[in-house]
Amino acid sequence: MVTRKGTVLLMAKPFFPWMGNKEKLVPYIHQLIPPHVKQFTEVFGGSGAVILGLQPKKGRLDIYNDLNDDLFNVFCCVKEKSFSLAKELKFLPVHGRTPFAFYRDMAAHEPDFYRHIEEEKRVVAESTCFTEEEIRELLTILDGNAKFFDVRRAAAFLFTTYGSFSGTGNSVGIKTVDPQAIVDKLPQVSRRLDSVFLEHQDALVLIPKEDRPDGIIYADPPYMLTEKVYDVRFLPEHHIVLHDRASSCKGYVIISYGYDDRIIDLYKDDFFIISLKRTNPLSQTEGSTFRELIITNYDPSPYLNKQLDIFGQATEAMWEPVILHRPRRILKAD
Ligand SMILES: C[S@@+](CC[C@H](N)C(=O)[O-])C[C@H]1O[C@@H](n2cnc3c(N)ncnc32)[C@H](O)[C@@H]1O
Repeated sequence: MVTRKGTVLLMAKPFFPWMGNKEKLVPYIHQLIPPHVKQFTEVFGGSGAVILGLQPKKGRLDIYNDLNDDLFNVFCCVKEKSFSLAKELKFLPVHGRTPFAFYRDMAAHEPDFYRHIEEEKRVVAESTCFTEEEIRELLTILDGNAKFFDVRRAAAFLFTTYGSFSGTGNSVGIKTVDPQAIVDKLPQVSRRLDSVFLEHQDALVLIPKEDRPDGIIYADPPYMLTEKVYDVRFLPEHHIVLHDRASSCKGYVIISYGYDDRIIDLYKDDFFIISLKRTNPLSQTEGSTFRELIITNYDPSPYLNKQLDIFGQATEAMWEPVILHRPRRILKAD
């Protein structure tokens, strides 16, 4: 993006691979966000591709949410403890299978309590200025905090996702990982996260909480039948609950899915459905065409015609968006 003074601002990009990340669709999702919204909430945040690439705006609150503990921890660490994380990453050895298994196991362990949180707990517990009930409440908060901001766990998680083929850390990969390449991405991400509020809740609970008439919810749930890929289980029936939550929203809603007739069926009564098609020009074989769905509760036509901001995006990310379906009733008037 180029500012009025001509300075080039590079937007942050995902800093680790993640199954189902929407990096390639970012410009298409961004163009659909009405410029006047006061809140942007990404409820299935994953790698944060969409929110990281979104230019911060005065007067708009941006919220990232994911229920996965490791994702939330890594985002907290990049936001609040990026130097410690960078230091931790540089100190880790890098090559081969053995370290990969080691880091994967480390990422899976329950984080140790921080010494300073233990200390805080001791001070609170020994203090005479709180009632017993107040002490219990404070200790619960401190215990909650101790679960996150674990830089060792975050570093292990990053090594695991970079080293695994699936981008989820669940498969053993043999890729070598260059910690410097990860560390180099952190400053931009950390700067962007300064203006992003981090949440760690069930998206199905968060949607009604964060819905507001002048806000937008962006939901990129696990695709149907890929639910088991993620540590956090999203059950098949949750797709229906998500549809119901989205239908009840007073604000704007964007949902993305892989092309799926069952999803079209679920949303066709009251949502606009855009199909995005990308053909691999180098391949003539069947299956070389990729299709995605973007679903909105408002008419996307005025936004689709806007100039795409593909500055800094890979040029291969040229998709052909077509409004596949218009509902009989429109849930959200513009
Ligand atoms: C398709 S991925 C999102 C990818 C993301 N848009 C990106 O660009 O990286 C789905 C995400 O939903 C998260 N998830 C699954 N069930 C959830 C739930 N009930 N609440 C919040 N997050 C959930 C998973 O941890 C996973 O990161």
